[in-house]
Amino acid sequence: MRFVDIIHKKRYKEELTDEEIQFFIDGVVDGSIPDYQISSLLMAIVLNGMNERETSYLAKAMMHSGDVLDLSSIEGIKADKHSTGGVGDKTSMALGPMVAACGLKVAKMSGRGLGHTGGTLDKLESIEGLNCFLTEKQFKKQVQEIGISIIGQTGDLVPADKKLYALRDVTGTVESIPLIASSIMSKKLACGSDTILLDVKYGEGAFMHTIEDATKLAEAMISIGNSLGRNTMAMITDMNQPLGNTIGNALEIREAIDTLKGYGPKDFTELCMQAAEIMLIQGKVAKDKEEARAMLEEAISSGKAFEKFKQMVKAQGGNVAMIDDPSLLPQSKYKTEIKSRQSGNVKLLHSEKLGVLAMQLGAGRATKDEDVNHAVGLELNCKRGNKVNVGDIICYVYHDEDLKQEWIDELYNAFEFTDEDVENRPLIEKILS
Ligand code: URA
Repeated sequence: MRFVDIIHKKRYKEELTDEEIQFFIDGVVDGSIPDYQISSLLMAIVLNGMNERETSYLAKAMMHSGDVLDLSSIEGIKADKHSTGGVGDKTSMALGPMVAACGLKVAKMSGRGLGHTGGTLDKLESIEGLNCFLTEKQFKKQVQEIGISIIGQTGDLVPADKKLYALRDVTGTVESIPLIASSIMSKKLACGSDTILLDVKYGEGAFMHTIEDATKLAEAMISIGNSLGRNTMAMITDMNQPLGNTIGNALEIREAIDTLKGYGPKDFTELCMQAAEIMLIQGKVAKDKEEARAMLEEAISSGKAFEKFKQMVKAQGGNVAMIDDPSLLPQSKYKTEIKSRQSGNVKLLHSEKLGVLAMQLGAGRATKDEDVNHAVGLELNCKRGNKVNVGDIICYVYHDEDLKQEWIDELYNAFEFTDEDVENRPLIEKILS
């Protein structure tokens, strides 16, 4: 087989066979196909797409390019959830303990953040001592014993994706539904859980800008998951404003704790509740949404969900005192109030601008090797649809260095006001299976 013939086929919109896709992935991993040829095929895929069969096979070949976790020694159904990345997205920290407190096993591997969306690991590492790098044995033992563990990737999972993603990043080939779907799903599949819930974001600051594109991506990922025997469902959710009120590592942990105790922000709480309902049904812990909701409400009001988070933190070596008293979490030197210069109803909160600002304050990283500052970030004091008067506090900035004027200007630019009523858009647009 000659790789140039495979490039030609895709260039002329022909369908690739399983053998050709396997040859591609094998060559990526063993280094026998040079980067320029890989990039050429990637661009042909971006331009001419892949059908359902090709995309599923690509995900499968990528999944088997490295280690695949076997969670079968853990009793019961193991659940996983994945978000395509959003500003202020601290869902795993609240949702995981909520469903684990209802008896579902959560075995979750997460990543670090890059760019304007923070990573779950960075947020968890705000908690002093918490170890996100357990061995596979420790990870499985923890899921078996307390029902939940959230860690970074162990072993050599999906080396093909590491190579392909690095090339896509520098060759303008990230935005492609078959490439994104196979990249995300190969990693989810290699993590070994039985059920997968995908939170596919649309809007500003998300990979997919429209509901239609987010739906296409979700359908591609569901088809991959189901074709490989994993119960896969997806929610299409709005990223046209940050999720919850906080953006920044320790600030988001504090908000996740509030939510586990039943007093989190309304939008974030509702997203967690609806996602948790789906996960409990997928995991056969609840028979329908009503039963799931009742279990979740009990887990929160009884304190079991909060206790589950504490158990997880303790098992991973974290300082539990910080969970009991979030004022012990890393604190920034300064907290500055930002007051509105306008009156009106909040029409738009530009997620991407706010995410980039939080990153500039130090909460995220612009390049892979930077450290994050766990203490800094933003706390919104209004959300879309709220009425604001001149002088009202719209946001708090948590920072360690002096605020630059350009950041303050950009912060004001992130808020848009109108005198008209603001349409109440649903956070969860639809649920797909
Ligand atoms: N996240 C991934 O893991 N892969 C992509 O291609 C895009 C987002």
